[in-house]
Amino acid sequence: MKINGVIVRVPAKVNLQLAVGPLGDDGYHEVTTVFQAISLYDEVSVRHGEAGEGVQLTISGPTSSGVPVDSSNLAVRAADLMISRYGLATDISIHLKKEIPVAGGMAGGSADAAGVLVGIDSLFELGLSRDELERIAAELGSDVPFSISGGIAIGTGRGDRITPALSRGSYHWVLALSGHGLSTPAVYKECDRLREGLTIARPQIGDAMMQALRAGDPKALGKALTNDLQPAACSLRPALRLVLDVGMEYGALGGIVSGSGPTVAFLVADEEKSLDLTVALSASGVVSGVVRASGPTHGARVIETL
Ligand code: C5P
Repeated sequence: MKINGVIVRVPAKVNLQLAVGPLGDDGYHEVTTVFQAISLYDEVSVRHGEAGEGVQLTISGPTSSGVPVDSSNLAVRAADLMISRYGLATDISIHLKKEIPVAGGMAGGSADAAGVLVGIDSLFELGLSRDELERIAAELGSDVPFSISGGIAIGTGRGDRITPALSRGSYHWVLALSGHGLSTPAVYKECDRLREGLTIARPQIGDAMMQALRAGDPKALGKALTNDLQPAACSLRPALRLVLDVGMEYGALGGIVSGSGPTVAFLVADEEKSLDLTVALSASGVVSGVVRASGPTHGARVIETL
């Protein structure tokens, strides 16, 4: 039976640890990071389009406002890349149902691109392996390969070389959202400015982090959360310090700016604590929204054929 389209579900991520090395000649920083995929998803539907229409993108959902539908959207670039690499029919219609915050440090744009890669692979029956998909993903952006793999993984290089991490257990998160996004290049630039004159070591993952994950120990994990981009995100958005303070005051095991921010991710002990913190953050007036999620969860995968 011919498939008309597929729907792919793709998770957001938090960085449990993000160690940033010096700026390289290629304009990127060498990083070592631990990603966790969490249960906040975008849904990407990919269908055969009308003849002659090319790649068409439409967007809906609570975080869709202001997201571009032209080729500046990574999802369109992902489709163009697959079309040229595999000589595919160019009429593809993509719809993004967005729940992941835009420019929030949670790989929302990367998730959509990953969804398009997995969707086109399935729709055109290309039979690409996860490795092949991750290699193509790395051409689109540093976080796209992890959006394909999901789970808990270590990212090296630009963050695009993914190795699954040994871990057990599942974790409860409360995400404090900001009304306005932060630009990833701007945060990296601010990080360089704050570190000017310092000698920066090559990035490494701490033993405490790996031990906490192996043991499945949320308390130890809460203490091991670190992000070298956090001072830069807080420098550009000083209100984030207040958000971090509120979260810790109301019982979080640990709190961290996710990636380049401005989302702040709080790790909590259980469902009850997650509800308490959600109420406290909402009442504090320092955040624009609060979302509860758990992790780890799967990477980009087809949930429906049309
Ligand atoms: O790879 P991606 O397109 O997501 O990166 C966006 C920007 O973030 C890069 O142009 C660069 O300024 C910065 N970046 C970096 N080092 C990384 C990843 C991203 O400096 N490892």
